[in-house]
This record gives sequence, C-alpha cells and structure tokens, in this order.
Amino acid sequence: MATPPPLRRVAALLLLLVAAASTPTARADLVVTRADRKVDLTSHIVRVLTSLKVENSGPEAVSQFLLAFPNVQAKNLAAIRAFGTEGKVKGPSMVLPIEVVQPSGVPPELTFFSASLSKPLEKGKTLHLDVLTVFTHSIQPFPEEITQAESQLVVYQDSAQYLSPYPVKVQTLSIRLPGGRVESYTKYPNTKLAESELKYGPYEDLPPFSYSPMVVHYENNNPFAVAKEVIREIEISHWGNVQITEHYNIAHGGAKLKGEFSRIDYQSRPYIRGVSSFRHLIARLPPRAHSIYYRDEIGNISTSHLWSDSKKTQLEVEPRFPLFGGWQTTFTIGYGLPLQDFVFNSDGQRFLNITFGSPVEEILIEKLIVKVVLPEGSKDIDISVPFPTKQEQEVKYSHLDISGRPVVVLEKLDVIPEHNLYFQVYYRFNNISLLREPMMLITGFFLLFMACIVYMRTDMSISKNSPSYLAKVQWDEVWSF
Ligand SMILES: *[C@@H]1O[C@H](CO)[C@@H](O)[C@H](O)[C@H]1NC(C)=O
Ligand SMILES: *[C@@H]1O[C@H](CO)[C@@H](O)[C@H](O)[C@H]1NC(C)=O
Repeated sequence: MATPPPLRRVAALLLLLVAAASTPTARADLVVTRADRKVDLTSHIVRVLTSLKVENSGPEAVSQFLLAFPNVQAKNLAAIRAFGTEGKVKGPSMVLPIEVVQPSGVPPELTFFSASLSKPLEKGKTLHLDVLTVFTHSIQPFPEEITQAESQLVVYQDSAQYLSPYPVKVQTLSIRLPGGRVESYTKYPNTKLAESELKYGPYEDLPPFSYSPMVVHYENNNPFAVAKEVIREIEISHWGNVQITEHYNIAHGGAKLKGEFSRIDYQSRPYIRGVSSFRHLIARLPPRAHSIYYRDEIGNISTSHLWSDSKKTQLEVEPRFPLFGGWQTTFTIGYGLPLQDFVFNSDGQRFLNITFGSPVEEILIEKLIVKVVLPEGSKDIDISVPFPTKQEQEVKYSHLDISGRPVVVLEKLDVIPEHNLYFQVYYRFNNISLLREPMMLITGFFLLFMACIVYMRTDMSISKNSPSYLAKVQWDEVWSF
C-alpha cells in the first residue's frame, strides 16, 4: 500500500525537534511527572484530552505552563481549554486563561500556548492540568475518492510521544477509533490495538521535545458534515417571541464519490450501497421551541421528525437525497422561542443570553454568521462573547419600520460544537416604542375610515344605480344604526 501523504511532512519536523531539544532555553524547571493523552477519532472533529501532573523541581515559583504544537497541527486547532488543580489529589478545577506566546530560542515550526496558573506553583509543589484541544480538518480521507459501495478510509497522524518543552517522566497515549476496519498503524515498542482502542506506552523518562510520528489508517463512515456557511438570525420581538432562522449550506467533507451514483442500488441496500453517505442530521433545539419548520428551495420538507421533552426538542433533518463525499445541499430551519427564556432585565438594561453555535450535532461550520436583530429603537448596544469574533452592526428594515432595527453581526470561522457557549447582547429599549407600530396602524385605519366617510358624504353627483352609489346607501344604513 502507498504511504499516506501526511507522513512526508513529518520527517522535516523531526529534524527540527532534535535541534530544539539540544538548544538551551530559559525555561522554568518544571517536570511533567505524568502525561496521559486520550484522542477521540470517532467523528470528523478530533478531540484530545491531555491530563498532566506537573512538578516544580526548581528553586523559584512558576506561574506559566507552556503547551507546544507543531504548526501543521496548530493551524487546525479550533479550541483549546485548560483546567488546573493544585495539590496531590484532584479537587475542583479552575479554567486557566490561555494565550499564544513566542518563547525565545524555540524552533519556528512550533506554536506555543501559555496557560496562566491561578497562583504560582511553589518549589516542590504539584499541579494537575487537564487540557482539551479540538482540531478540525485533521482527518484525511485516503483514498481521496471512493465508489458508492466503498467504505471511507481515513488517515490520522500525531506523535506517539507527548510533545512538550519539559521533560516527561511517564506517559501514555490512547486513541479511540470508531470501530470497523483498521488498515494499518505505526508500531513502536508498547503499541497495542484492542477493541477499537490503539494504545502507545507507557514510555518513561523522555527529554523535552520528544516526538515519534505515528499514523493510523482506519475506517470512518460517520457523517463528515461540514457547513461551508451558516447564517443564523435571532430576531427579538418584545411581543413575546425570539425567532430563529438558520440557513445552512452543508457538504459531505469526506472522500469524494467517484463513478456513477445509482439510486436504485442505494434504495435497495442503503447501508451497503451507500455506507459512506449520510441521510440525516440531528438538531437539538432548546426546550419549548415552537413553530418549527424545515425547508429547502423547493418547499417544506415533511420527512423531518420531531421529538420533545422538558429538556430539549430534537429535530431530525433529512435532506431530499443522501449526501456522498463532495455533495452539497442547502436548507433552512426556523423556530420560535419564548422571550422570557432568553431575554432578561438587569439594571434597567435588557440582555439576550443564548448559545452561539448551531444546534446541529457534530457539525463543523467553516463560516458562521450570527445576526441578532434587536427591536426598533434599541440603544446602547453592548456585546459579550466568550471567544474572539468579528463584530459589525447593520440595520434591517421590515414593514412599518421607520428607523429600522439595529442588527448585531458576529462572524467566526471554524466553529465546532465546543463553541456552543452562551453569549450576551445588552441593549436599552423603551416599552413605549412597542406601542408605536400598533398606534401607526390604528391611526392609519382611522384616517382611511375618515376619508371614506368624507368621500361618501360629498359624492352627490353620481347616478342612482352606480356601484359607488349603492355602496354609499349601504354605508348610510350601517351608520344609521
Ligand atoms: C411550511 O411549514 C411552516 C410551519 O409548519 C408553515 O408555517 C408554512 O406555511 C409552510 N410553508 C409551505 C410553503 O407549506
Ligand atoms: C446565560 O444562561 C446560562 C444558562 O442558563 C447561565 O448559566 C449563564 O449564567 C447566563 N449568563 C448570564 C450573563 O446571565
């Protein structure tokens, strides 16, 4: 079998790391006494949980911990979170702030992040760190094109040893695979594959920047649902509703379909003659979602299914055709939410508190645009999002609007389920403004009415059997009661 392409890059990196390990740099005397990594490869989004036990063996207190990644990996890093607990036993942990740093004397092929400890780690003390990293675009289909009946095989590469600027005493790596065939994997001493779990280690006493490339080539037919773009509009109406409308452009991001697609083949045996395709997606909507619809450019799709209980509402979105690698589809889902569940008052201000991402499970959104449409007349708008986004404001006009509704536009690339965090939009809004539109309507109708009456009373020159004369007679009858 041919060598999967990603392996070629690794050799160059390896040489650099050897050089890095021998470069003396001004690093604190931290030692990782234990590193256990768990890599989850069951979906197309890769999640790595690293549990570290860190000891300060130097004389001075340390307040930063460095995390290193090869650039090829760092460019696909969609989320990184660190939680720390001090002491011998694990207690409640604290979220640690993380930033990109550029320590001196390290190879430019590595990206470093620094986690700030909540309090400096004293000499001889131990710290537990849990680091969650989530990577996108890190599983490559290999081969890149398959036929309708073939299973999708993919390649993942990493290091069997934990890449760290500190020496590591004991370490293990365990990779969870989705089940199914495993074509090949890199074998080192202490490598074991059992029940869809690939294990490396334990390895002991490794110097800083140890790196041993490993590759696993395995079967993965889970939906590679990649949205090229999602536009999520959240419209607040102080009449009691938050209306959500989400436009999706979704593709199957896995191995491309080659050759003809046979629908007859597919329909007779969908799980054999279409094993790599996906037929539906699940959207988990908030509880009490109502007026739910799902449509594409042709119209409403009634084959979707809906379940709900007090904790959630689950919508199964089933496009009109199964999606094979490289195929795309567009659709819209919409639903209403009770205002009091998402918009609150505080100090005379109001704020929307709602989750940022899409409710569709295990989807990667390459570009997400969230638009919050505030009621007309909202002022002093303030936004709070727990991660960086591009922010803009625009104005939306709908019927009866005079000055238009302020719209907050937030844009983020590479959005994954981990970004489904609450964000807030604060604004001021006067309830009197609510009455403006009904008052406009009432005034409008009143004026129309008056005009009719005036017209009826002044129009004397028309013949007795013209329609307008008859209408006038009827009006007069109505008004005489
Ligand atoms: C689609 O369904 C929604 C909600 O059930 C409904 O309000 C709308 O009128 C339907 N549209 C069409 C074109 O059938
Ligand atoms: C937003 O809602 C979530 C979930 O109900 C809650 O945990 C969080 O504290 C709220 N945020 C604010 C600023 O109220």
